[in-house]
Amino acid sequence: MSLEGTTTGSWTRRRFVQAAAVGAMSAGVSQLAHAEVVSEHDTMIDVPFQKRDPRIAMIGTGGRGTSLLGNLLAADGQVVAVCDIVKSKAENASAMVVASGQKKPRLYADGPHDFENMLATDDIDLVIVATPWNWHAEQAIFAMKHGKDVAIEVPGVTSIADCWQIVRTSEETRRHCMMLENCCYGYNETLVLRMANAGLFGDLLYGEGAYLHDLRAILFSDEGEGLWRRAEHTQRDGNLYPSHGLGPVANYMGIQRGDRFDRIVSMSSRERSLDAYRKEHLQPNDPRLSERYVTGDMNTSLIKTANGLTITVKHTVSTPHPYDRINLIAGTKGIFQDYPPRIYFDNQNKDEAWGSIDAWKQYAHPLWQREGEIAKKVGGHGGMDYIMLYRLLQCVREGLPPDMDVYDAAAWSAVAPLSVASVSRGSEPMEFPDFTSGRWQQRKVSAIATQV
Ligand SMILES: NC(=O)c1ccc[n+]([C@@H]2O[C@H](COP(=O)([O-])OP(=O)(O)OC[C@H]3O[C@@H](n4cnc5c(N)ncnc54)[C@H](O)[C@@H]3O)[C@@H](O)[C@H]2O)c1
Repeated sequence: MSLEGTTTGSWTRRRFVQAAAVGAMSAGVSQLAHAEVVSEHDTMIDVPFQKRDPRIAMIGTGGRGTSLLGNLLAADGQVVAVCDIVKSKAENASAMVVASGQKKPRLYADGPHDFENMLATDDIDLVIVATPWNWHAEQAIFAMKHGKDVAIEVPGVTSIADCWQIVRTSEETRRHCMMLENCCYGYNETLVLRMANAGLFGDLLYGEGAYLHDLRAILFSDEGEGLWRRAEHTQRDGNLYPSHGLGPVANYMGIQRGDRFDRIVSMSSRERSLDAYRKEHLQPNDPRLSERYVTGDMNTSLIKTANGLTITVKHTVSTPHPYDRINLIAGTKGIFQDYPPRIYFDNQNKDEAWGSIDAWKQYAHPLWQREGEIAKKVGGHGGMDYIMLYRLLQCVREGLPPDMDVYDAAAWSAVAPLSVASVSRGSEPMEFPDFTSGRWQQRKVSAIATQV
């Protein structure tokens, strides 16, 4: 089943060079149509950033925005403007910038559309979006249309139509739109990526990623994400937050670089945990007791790639569970799995026992070898946030293409709406749009693995 009907008008402008319904290709996958297309739009694949020390603006300076800001300032990022609908949050961010020795940034806190006034100015090069999910697409598109590159927080955008909108806007404006998927820059993730690219796991076969994080207290908090994220659980049933687990696995497999997500099936367990939690923690007259949650407590999705690899992606934020992203990659010669990190190679590990990843330190990513100490000191999810932002600034300052581009942002974002569609149709397979218009076959490896 395809959701192409939800794409924007620009879809109709594309020229089909080869279109073949191949429903019979894959037994049990009904109505699945594949189309190889070439876009009339110029691609943004491998397009370098305009080389400059970017003048940065932030939209959303809550929990995540503040954390990103600390890391940006530690990497000498120059922040010229900050925006938040809550004035005290914008002022707090402004104070952080001043405390780092930079000029006081301009402040925008006059309502939910004040970001438009900020982005209408011409002294901003790069915009960081760290607002609630329903704002990401609108703010990213507005930024690109006003000549700015933009980096949006996870989970990117929330509909297939918006995936196409960011792709087409990026192509038309020649501005980048990337997702800030920090987990792609973890120490283990970058090390395993280099091992996978060196062929140590053999031919890759399957992977697994997850976001298993008990957010119950945060979802019912009176501040931060408690103000908006619980509402998502009243609207959609599927994997609402896929990219922390999926992004690194996509990089190992070279998704958009010789392979692509082809189709997905998704199942959700029933929902019980938010109901149970609120019964225990809320007063009897609390209005939140009348909310109706529809997101199943555990969503399990299975993606098949064009080259025949499989990826399991899981999501739970409402159940008692120690933090875990699984982060598994397996091939014909071995397997790595995280939480805790362990590795196993054919003919090397004895008695089917896992080995330690410490034996593979020679594959540590040069970014971690060089910036690891400061990354751990500045912090942000064990240092990965600093490494990600240091690398983003490096790409702009040196005029390199972004490691993660708009096509990655669209493909990783698409998992949420496609999983929702699959769940609502009794786990019917859903087809991924090819946001690269066939160009995924041209690139071979992730830039994170090859460039520093
Ligand atoms: N990558 C990660 O590890 C990570 C971690 C946490 C959150 N996030 C993501 O970061 C984003 C923000 O989450 P958060 O935890 O900071 O939430 P938050 O609620 O703490 O912060 C969001 C901020 O956006 C502001 N805001 C809302 N609408 C706005 C608008 N129209 N214009 C300007 N400001 C607006 C709010 O006032 C708030 O200060 C989300 O997409 C979330 O999923 C990512």
